[in-house]
Amino acid sequence: GKGTYPFYMLKEIDEQPTVMRKLISTYTDENGKMKVDPDIVKAIQASDRLYIIAAGTSYNAGFGAKAMLEALTNTPVELGVASEWGYDMPLLSKNPFFIFLSQSGETADSRQVLVKVNELSLPSLTVTNVPGSTLSREATYTMLIGAGPEIAVASTKAYTGQIATLAFLAKAVGEAQENPLAFEFDLVKELSLVAQSIEATLSEKEKIAAIVKKNFLTTRNAFYIGRKQDYFVAMEASLKLKEISYVQCEGFAAGELKHGTISLIEKGTPVIALISNNEKVALHTRGNVMETVARGAAAIVIAEEGAARPEDDIVVNAVHPYLSAISMVIPTQLLAYETSFQRGLDVDKPRNLAKAVTVE
Ligand code: M6R
Repeated sequence: GKGTYPFYMLKEIDEQPTVMRKLISTYTDENGKMKVDPDIVKAIQASDRLYIIAAGTSYNAGFGAKAMLEALTNTPVELGVASEWGYDMPLLSKNPFFIFLSQSGETADSRQVLVKVNELSLPSLTVTNVPGSTLSREATYTMLIGAGPEIAVASTKAYTGQIATLAFLAKAVGEAQENPLAFEFDLVKELSLVAQSIEATLSEKEKIAAIVKKNFLTTRNAFYIGRKQDYFVAMEASLKLKEISYVQCEGFAAGELKHGTISLIEKGTPVIALISNNEKVALHTRGNVMETVARGAAAIVIAEEGAARPEDDIVVNAVHPYLSAISMVIPTQLLAYETSFQRGLDVDKPRNLAKAVTVE
């Protein structure tokens, strides 16, 4: 049950530090050594390209993990929207390995791609929250997220759990390949820090509620902007806001805004900037924020410690750059929740939607 929570979504947002810690015990032994199925590791080592197939939030989670997977496994990662990939298989690499990301393991769009992958006798892994689900049964391998049931239609802990699960996979493959980056990446420590960072953000609920009250009660549209990893989080953040609050929102690459879309900015349009601690891009994103403010936007800055300024609206505790999509998404989950809640909507059951989309 949801206990004292008004909605499952808030309960599931709150569970994320626990999900992170549980994943540590699932995928490492007491000495901190990786416990990832060696057959999966071998299959990925034998591959020259990883194809991540997913829909919705799971697709966004794939983007959140892409840079880390590429750095640690030294293998290019391509993302595919499941509903687009079912038609004609694009030209594949010589030794492809498919990774299906799916909270439910029942998404029909993803399954139709897996059917084709199996017809071609190609190896695959499903990363899912549901043991025994269709995608788990039909793929060669499975890794479980173990986040516990996700009831709210809006996916939260599955997104963060998927990225963390992929981190164990990436590190295990990287170590098998003797990639020094993989040994340096102390995942047990880093994921513990992520859990703490999430907890710190969870204690800022009132602050986020006040931002929503001021900027999101009547607006019909909004933008999330960011660069690189922050752009991927922007896409997920905007999906979440749209899905449960019906505010039209676009997640945009911050530098791309000025190439046309900035003409949509009007007086009071909320523009939420995500600025993680990446010195290559942080200043540029700040410049893009100023461009929107000059056109009347109501800018809200969510910045990571290290890149934050005193005037920023929300500061997220710093984590390892591979894992920043996990910590940076938390305030955006709360913002979506609060917007839906304050507008008096059914947070857990948005209109026109089902938890698992089992039609193509
Ligand atoms: O169960 P799956 O992860 O395969 O579901 C994919 C999408 O339908 C799902 O993530 C959807 O986008 C969420 N409702 C978004 O919050």
